[in-house]
Amino acid sequence: MYPLIRPRRLRSNEAIRTLVRETIISPSDFLVPLFVVEGKGIKEEIPSMPNYYRLSLDNLTKEVKELWNMGLRSVLLFVKVPDNLKDNKGSEALNENGLMQLAIKTVKNACPEMLVMTDVALDPYSSYGHDGIVADGEILNDESVEVLAEMSVSHANAGADFVAPSDMMDGRILSIREALEDEGYLNTGIMAYSAKYASAFYGPFRDALDSAPVDIKNVPKDKNTYQMDFANRFEAIRETQMDIDEGADIVMVKPGLCYLDIVREIKNEVDVPVAVYQVSGEYAMVKAAAEKGWLDHDAVMMEQLTAIKRAGANIIASYFAKDAVKLLG
Ligand code: PBG
Repeated sequence: MYPLIRPRRLRSNEAIRTLVRETIISPSDFLVPLFVVEGKGIKEEIPSMPNYYRLSLDNLTKEVKELWNMGLRSVLLFVKVPDNLKDNKGSEALNENGLMQLAIKTVKNACPEMLVMTDVALDPYSSYGHDGIVADGEILNDESVEVLAEMSVSHANAGADFVAPSDMMDGRILSIREALEDEGYLNTGIMAYSAKYASAFYGPFRDALDSAPVDIKNVPKDKNTYQMDFANRFEAIRETQMDIDEGADIVMVKPGLCYLDIVREIKNEVDVPVAVYQVSGEYAMVKAAAEKGWLDHDAVMMEQLTAIKRAGANIIASYFAKDAVKLLG
């Protein structure tokens, strides 16, 4: 009780603050999302994601070497697929020589010890921009899961360490796990996007991959029948528990900042590593406000990343990974 207890003693200078600090960001916290495109010599800035790029395979090689030298050890791969290769079933996703499969090999060639995770969902490959197959105005569950399981095997075959299903179809973790086991990929991990909300914060990402749901008759314009309602809490726990029971090694909450209550609840509930995805819209907001001089970019970035970790994230997927590591020095 005051004056016996004066909490300000523990804040009185930087040395004591450092000594009692509970949460420290380090390079090993990060999973770095990378966007890959066809072509050569390409490094295109994504307009709604300043200082973030789509890379062709040659530049991907350079990028992962740079990440490795900075102490960043894990990447999460996404591909931008040309329109002429898109269809409703996402057939191109299974192409052994497709862009994702080549990207996995490229990273492993450049940096054999870099941990490679791959996005598993149909949206970059779908002519409708959906994470599953569309029929009669619906996103089919079980038919989509079959493709996702084959896609996962194809990524494992190309050398992926982890597959990261981001589609939110029911039962996909079990099907993927069984398919990997059947094909002998016993050590390929699954990072499940377990509590993935239907969020407006994915906008810039859909610009980056040109993967937004299309606006045509009889195709849902949003992902609300599979991604979760952001008003809900209980189903986040339920979805996460189901994914663990089905064989997920790591579970994820997405987006980050608006969902840290969910992160903490899940962290308290489960005993597998919890990843948090600080998504494209979160990145864009900080960049935009900083460009206008309205916020201090570096200070806000570190505050947000620290808050994500404090909430319970063991892994942070973030477009700020490089910026943050540079700042850590
Ligand atoms: C695709 C996928 C999305 C993101 C990751 N994987 C977009 C979506 O579900 O529409 C979003 C990532 C971001 O916004 O940074 N299934």
